[in-house]
Amino acid sequence: MAPIAYLECTRCGQRLSADRPQTVCPKDGGVLYVRYNLSDLKKNFKLTSLAGRAPSMWRYAEVLPDAEPVSLGEGFTPMLASREFPKVYIKDEGLNPTGSFKARGLAAAVTMAKAYGLRKLAIPSAGNAGSACAAYAAAAGLEAHIFMPLDVPQANRVECETYGAHVTLIDGLISDCARAVADRKEKEGWFDVSTLKEPFRVEGKKTMGYEVVEQLGGRLPKAIIYPTGGGVGLIGMWKAFAEMEELGWIGAERPRMVVVQSTGCAPIVKAWNEHKSSSEAWREAATVAAGLRVPKAYGDYLILDILRKSDGIAVAVTDDEIMDALRHWGRVEGVFAAPEGAAALAAYRKLRATGFFSAQDSVVLFNTGSGLKYLDVIDKQKQSAPAQGSRHIAGIIGPY
Ligand SMILES: Cc1ncc(COP(=O)(O)O)c(C=O)c1O
Ligand SMILES: [Zn+2]
Repeated sequence: MAPIAYLECTRCGQRLSADRPQTVCPKDGGVLYVRYNLSDLKKNFKLTSLAGRAPSMWRYAEVLPDAEPVSLGEGFTPMLASREFPKVYIKDEGLNPTGSFKARGLAAAVTMAKAYGLRKLAIPSAGNAGSACAAYAAAAGLEAHIFMPLDVPQANRVECETYGAHVTLIDGLISDCARAVADRKEKEGWFDVSTLKEPFRVEGKKTMGYEVVEQLGGRLPKAIIYPTGGGVGLIGMWKAFAEMEELGWIGAERPRMVVVQSTGCAPIVKAWNEHKSSSEAWREAATVAAGLRVPKAYGDYLILDILRKSDGIAVAVTDDEIMDALRHWGRVEGVFAAPEGAAALAAYRKLRATGFFSAQDSVVLFNTGSGLKYLDVIDKQKQSAPAQGSRHIAGIIGPY
């Protein structure tokens, strides 16, 4: 693993030491990126160096912080070739510990929290980040304080409790949970591992970018579709591509990055359509895809910049389109996706219909989580709109 050279503010470029825990830039609140001496690594760290390494995100150890990993086996998830679309791949993040890609970010954040000697962590979460934080905190022997919306999917609450975390349910959204953490953290001595308020969740999530390149044999896809709430997956992958260029693994080319959100909470799509460089808080956010119910992303300026630089696009899909895509993936691909992940298929369908993509374009769709985390949510949707292949008879759901 690499010694960190410094932390760098994404707004003003100020450099900070990684010798002690940092949050955001003290001058302007900018997100901090971890920087390594990549030119030193370039000579010995190549794509071919990865052969035979353990199938987890820690196989990219050279570009991850220098600390003893707190690992539950996260990362190196399958890159499935779609059975339906010959040039499409499904990156199935549902196979991570705690059933979502959030495992990567929290594995890295908790690894560093432990290395810094922190004892108590707090996190506001739409659900899956809370589960991951609780699991990794348990593995590290740290205390976890999880703040989630009252109507969070049941699995997230039950998981967090099972991992021994302190769970507080808030009658509101993730933004209200964030306020609750901010109000109490100083008094309680909690370290805040909110999305982008500490530098290491991005480091964990960037490994998805490394995996895309490694699993596609060193090539980049034409595009990546990413279900976006706080946007850390997208931000992390973009950082990974820049690092891989510095390492000499790829050239200056980049995939077109595509943000998908729900029409019930689409602040990034709105800002993108209005050519803005930051977003406004979305009012009355509501969607079946709990992880996309983020009214305002802290790193919105980074997400919008990535969309511009990659010649990407932001699209919104309805909850009905999400649920239809979820059932379709189940039937056609054998993939039981989280609603957030299914949104990627809904976006792909839309972008094929508009001609943004052709059948020849290679596109990676991120299924960010497992449908098993959403049994209550999916079952409720099914009762209001029965899926093809089953029907309601006097309250009984059965096959045709
Ligand atoms: C399954 C799933 N997909 C996507 C997201 C959105 O992720 P991000 O906040 O990194 O954009 C979340 C966030 O909770 C999630 O749980
Ligand atoms: Zn700054």
